[in-house]
Parts: sequence; C-alpha cells; structure tokens
Amino acid sequence: MAGGNGHLGAAAPVRTADRPGGIRVITLDNPPANAISYAVSALLVQAIDAADADSAVRAVIFAGAGGLFSYGADINDFAIEPTPDTKTVREVTAAVERSAKTYVAAIEGTALGGGFELALTCDYRVGSAKTKLGLPEIKLGLLPGAGGTQRLTRLIGAQDALQMMLKGETIGAEDALKKGILDEVAAGDVVAAAAALVERVIGTAPKRRISARTAELGVAGLGLFAFPFVVAQAHKMVPPESNGGFAAHKLIDAVAAALELDFAHGLARESRLFEELIRSAPSAALQHVFFAERQLGKIPNLPPAEALEIKTAGVIGAGTMGTGIAITFANAGIPVVVIEPADEQIERSKQMVFGMFAHQVQRGRLTQEQAWKLGQSISWESDYGELAGADIVVEAVFENMDVKKEVFAKLDAVCKPATILASNTSTLDIDEMAAVTKRPEQFVGLHFFAPANIMKLLEIVRGARTSPQTLTTAVKLGKTLRKVAVVSANAFGFIGNRMFFDYAREAVYLLEEGIPPERIDRVMKEQFGFAMGPFATFDLSGVDVFWHIQQERTAALGEKRTAIIDRMYAAKRWGQKTGLGFYKYDGPNKREPLPDPALTALVAEEAAKAGIAPRSVTDTEIVERLAYALINVGADLLEAEIALRPGDEDIVYIYGYGFPPHHGGPMWYADEVGVANVVARVKEFGWRVSPLLERIAQRGGTIAAYSKEFVHA
Ligand code: 3HC
Ligand code: NAI
Repeated sequence: MAGGNGHLGAAAPVRTADRPGGIRVITLDNPPANAISYAVSALLVQAIDAADADSAVRAVIFAGAGGLFSYGADINDFAIEPTPDTKTVREVTAAVERSAKTYVAAIEGTALGGGFELALTCDYRVGSAKTKLGLPEIKLGLLPGAGGTQRLTRLIGAQDALQMMLKGETIGAEDALKKGILDEVAAGDVVAAAAALVERVIGTAPKRRISARTAELGVAGLGLFAFPFVVAQAHKMVPPESNGGFAAHKLIDAVAAALELDFAHGLARESRLFEELIRSAPSAALQHVFFAERQLGKIPNLPPAEALEIKTAGVIGAGTMGTGIAITFANAGIPVVVIEPADEQIERSKQMVFGMFAHQVQRGRLTQEQAWKLGQSISWESDYGELAGADIVVEAVFENMDVKKEVFAKLDAVCKPATILASNTSTLDIDEMAAVTKRPEQFVGLHFFAPANIMKLLEIVRGARTSPQTLTTAVKLGKTLRKVAVVSANAFGFIGNRMFFDYAREAVYLLEEGIPPERIDRVMKEQFGFAMGPFATFDLSGVDVFWHIQQERTAALGEKRTAIIDRMYAAKRWGQKTGLGFYKYDGPNKREPLPDPALTALVAEEAAKAGIAPRSVTDTEIVERLAYALINVGADLLEAEIALRPGDEDIVYIYGYGFPPHHGGPMWYADEVGVANVVARVKEFGWRVSPLLERIAQRGGTIAAYSKEFVHA
C-alpha cells in the first residue's frame, strides 16, 4: 500500500491512506462500535472534502477497522443538543453527495444505521460473506435520518425498504447481493476488492448515485399510481401513534416522500421527521432501554474473577421449566443431561423437545440434520451419578423447599467439586438451599421465565455467599444462552415477581371496586401498551400459582381484602389450563378470553361482603394505580439493594412481563411522569410511600439521576 497514515494520525478514529491509482482509503476506527459521533462526523467531512479537493485522488473507499464497518450514529450523542456547527452523519453523506469523485464502501462486517446510510451514499458497495446490513433506527424510536429512507427506497423499492426498516432487521450478504444493495461479495480482502472495482468502473461508469434514481413501489403488478393505497395499508399495519407506533408512522411518511418528491425535497422531509423523533419521549425511553441492557453485566464492586467454562450441563426435573431449560442449553451448543424420576414426565418432555425441533424444521429455521444433532445433545436419565462431571446443574423440581434441599444434598455428594449448583425457584430462599451443600459459594439462582427456551429474561440470583467467580460465570452463561440476564439479590420474588405481586394486588383491588377485568386489561394493553393485561397474565400463568404464593406470603403481598382468589382456587378457576379463570375460554379456539358473568357475580358477592362499594374509576386511574404500584415497590427494591439499578428493573419488566418499551420500563416511566407527581398520587391512593421515592420527590430530579449518585456509591 502506498501512502501510509494520513494527516489525521494513526490513533485517530478516522484514518486516511493512499493506494496506487489515485485511490484514497478512509478508515473508520472508533472501537467498540465504529460509531459515527459528532466528532467523527466532523473528521469524516474534513477527510471527504480534502479528497475531493485533491486532484491526485480519483476514488475514495470507505472501510471500517476491526472487522466492522459501523454500527451507526453514536447513540450517546443523541442527548446532546447540536449547535449550528455540529456535524452529524447527515453532513457526512452530504459531503459525499456533493463530491465529484467515485465512492465505494468496502463493508467487511456489519453496517447499521448511519454506517449503512453512508454506504448507500456511495456509488458502489462491496461486501464479504460476513457482511450484515440494516437500518435498526426504529428500535430506538427513530427513523434513518441520513438519507436512508430516501436511498434505500430508491434502490430496492418501497415495499422491501419499508419491510426492512419497520422491522429494523439486518440482512446478510447473499440477500443484499440479490436485492442489488451490494454490487459484489468479495472472497478475500474487501478493500482490495473495492480497489479492483474502482479500476474496472472508473473509465466507464464512475458515478452511480442512488439519489439520481426514481423510487418504485416494488409491488408486482402495481404502478406508482397505487402508492397512496400501499402507504395507507402500511399505516394500518403498524401500532397506533400513541401506543408504540410513533416512529413507524413517521417512517412510512418518509418512504412516501421518496415516492412522491424529488430527492432533495424527500431528504428535507426525512430530516424534519427525524428531528421530531430524536428528542421525543418514546425515543428517549428506547435509548434508555438500549443502554440499560448494556449495563446489566456490569456489577458494581464485584472483585474481578475469571468465569469458569461451561461445557456440559445438568437439569433436575423434566417438567415445563426443566424441559425448556434443557432446550436452551442445547440451542447454545451445551450438551445437557436431564434427571427425572417419573417415566411419564420423561415421555412428555421428549415429546416437547422433539415437537419443538420439528416445528423449527417446518419453519425452515433448522435443517433436519441440525435438529437431529440438537435433539441428540439432550439425554434423559434417572441416576444422579450421570451428573458427576457436569459444569453446572440447574434444579427445576416442584416449588417446595424440602424437595429442593434433598435434591441439592444429593447433587453436592455426586458432583465434582467445581460444579456450580443453581436453582430455578421463583420464590424460595437461595441461601437456605445453598446451606445444605458444602459449596454455598458455588450456588446461584437462575430464574428462567416460561417458556424458558423462548423468553429472553433470566434473573441471576446472588446468594449471600455466591462467589465472584460463580456470579461472573453465571453472567457469562447468560450471554452464551442468549438471554438478557439481570442480577438480583436473594429476596422473596426477586425483582420481577416481587414487583408483579404489588401490581397484581392492585389489579384485584380495582376488580373489587367493580371494574371488569376486560376493561382493566384493555386499558393496560391498548392504551398503555403492555403485551397483555394483568388478568390475561393471571390466567396464563395460573391463578392457582398465585393462590399458593398468597397462602404463604400474605404479609409480603399486602392486605387481602376479599376471598376472590380463594374462591377461584376452590372452584378450579385456575386460568387457561382449566378453561376458566378471570375469563372463560369456551370459544371455538379455547384460547380467546371471553367475559364471564359467573366471575362478575362472584366478584360482586365478595366485594359486597367486604363492604367495598363499586366506584367509578377513570382509565387514567387504572394506569396510575397499576404502574405506580410497580414504581413504589421498585423503589423499595432499589433502596434494599435487591436490584442494582433502576434500569435493571426496567429490563426485567420489559423482557419478562411485557411492559411497553416505549415507556422505558416502570422506573423510567416514573421519571417521565415526574417522581413528585407519582408520590402525590400514591398518597392520594392512601398507600405507604417508598421512602426513596419520597426523598427524590423532595429534592427534585429523577430516579435515574439519584441512583447514579447514591446507589452503590
Ligand atoms: N452508538 C454508540 N455505541 C454503540 C452503538 C452506537 N450506535 N452501537 C453499539 N455501541 C456500543 C455498545 O454500547 C457497547 O458498548 P460497551 O461495550 O461500552 O457497553 C459496544 O458498542 C458493543 O455493543 P454491544 O454490546 O451491543 O454488542 P453486541 O454484539 O451485543 O450487539 C449490535 C451489536 C446488535 C449492533 C448492538 O450494539 C446494536 O444494536 N447497536 C445499535 C445499532 C443501531 O441502532 N444503530 C443505529 C443508530 S441511530 C443512527 O444511526 C441514526 C442515523 O440514521 C442518523
Ligand atoms: P413441573 O411440575 O412442571 O415440573 C417439576 C418436575 O420435577 C416434574 O417433572 C417432577 O416429576 C420433577 N421432580 C420432582 N421431584 C424431583 C426430584 N427429586 N428429582 C428429579 N425430578 C423431580 O414444574 P415447573 O412449572 O417446571 O416448575 C419447576 C420449578 O421452576 C419450580 O421451582 C417453579 O417455581 C419454577 N418456575 C416455574 C415457572 C413456571 O412458569 N412454571 C417459571 C419460573 C420458575
């Protein structure tokens, strides 16, 4: 390579180097994400303008260091108000657009968001087999703001562009080549291939800007005249603006602009729509979720320790959870032995496993051979001795302390000294279980959510004696299992269920006040954005499960005003599994929740007995009581250091309980509403106010800011 490092210097996040034939390579080197921050944008504009002014330069290649092109604009910058001098990816793409040289993007690895938009501004794009491309801005409540909506629509048609941007998914090199997004997939060095491409095109077709093209609908048999219809359909298919669809509707408008307007006007429309989103509440919430998720593995004050390697695993109990956990290990390439004494349970478990893999084959997600291999990595045994060499064993037997203690005493006796022992208990005391073993420091809770092979959330429960190495191993294992793993201290219900109990209590109180379950569920789902309302959740997870917990933990769950849950339990109104719960499930598909007059009568009778008169309650009060119940207990858990950060609680709620991500999780939502407002309402409801919330309300500010300052300081 001729030239060498350019005037921006070797350590700079933007490097330039010249190759023979007048080719300048501009390399982004801003680990870990090659993010295009305001500062990097300024350097890129400078480098592009310099190349454009240099008569020795015929073509420019953009590349990324570290096997990565760029994950896009720097999300950290979004909170910083730009000044008139601030440069963003938009200015970078404008500099390319106005330059007379030929531009090629050499995309060795992933190009996302603004990174991909920069590539789309180039005349040519060369990828490798590893290349992945996408515009995931929608996941941050944004739309591509550096010409992506205008260029991708012009390149692949509105239909495909919309699909790609609305889902925010990435596509691989082969697909991108088919769609004409990549011009070439190089087998070797991508920059060298890009340079060879320059030599081929420079004499014949040096310029090939997407901006000069006309956008098509990309729907077979439909001309551009049909675009109002296609756009109207797209608007109908996304959630309402007020309930998670805020960015989606604007994204569709931006694509419509690409069909309707010339490039410059389309770009201006895109910019305006982007600016409306960037500092909106839903986008701020989703940006918070992005960073909160990346904080999870960072545990304050944890002495550094090397994670143990988990090569083999064991699971005790082949019930609902044990089977799901076994599939999770198998999917991550970790062979697993499941111990189960009941033959019929082994049969059921095998059917669940093979049914699941067969389904994956049917859906085209696995080949027969892959499914067979995965199936082979799970084996069912009855002898604990099979687990002697396992690196970790996860217990998932009945929720009963004595049964669990017996299991752990046996495991402690048969497993090699290094084996980590873990419990999937939902409510029981991890330390009490650890105490029956001689290795309490190698004991941890791994609380998976049902169905364990599908739900992303994993609560890692740190016992009083869990060692830094065990915790570090559990965190690493969470990543290997492709879970979103949140660390909780050992306390009743950990983070998620502990918060759910207060939410559930308040939902039942509303019911007692005469509000039908279907109205409460509708408000929480359709108005606030939960994946499902509290009563649909009860019916799915089992009213009987809640009754059992209520029996043992009335004190923790708060005052029981009526015997509704007791009567439901006695009448086997346990939810979907018995066809009757807060709803009845006797419709044609047996899964649709239908209002049940018998439940209404039961509730009215119990409420009258308890002297609770029906009240008129607004939809706003329904949201407030349920959301503020979560916030109030969430603050208690922070103060007690059961949750490490408010963001951890938010992640638990979003991934485990269907809390709307566009509200950022319950604790973020508290800040959105204003802590003082939450506290004032909590007082009006007559609840005990969490002392932490009260302090934050008094001093002003947010839970996020307070926690940064004080929690684990
Ligand atoms: N800006 C700033 N930092 C970023 C970033 C970005 N766009 N993308 C990733 N990072 C950081 C992460 O915070 C993390 O930092 P840390 O190590 O200090 O915690 C580091 O890069 C590595 O990222 P992950 O831990 O997330 O790595 P994974 O391999 O698990 O995930 C990923 C990779 C799926 C690409 C994920 O990082 C991701 O989704 N990134 C965001 C991509 C995105 O949304 N891009 C669009 C940005 S908006 C935009 O470009 C606007 C434009 O249209 C104008
Ligand atoms: P389940 O009843 O479906 O399965 C339990 C299994 O353990 C049965 O197959 C049983 O035969 C077996 N078993 C009992 N004693 C055993 C022993 N000594 N050795 C080996 N196997 C034994 O129960 P489920 O729902 O799978 O729950 C298991 C655990 O997971 C419980 O602690 C529960 O609280 C927890 N959990 C359950 C969730 C759920 O939604 N079902 C969610 C998260 C955790």
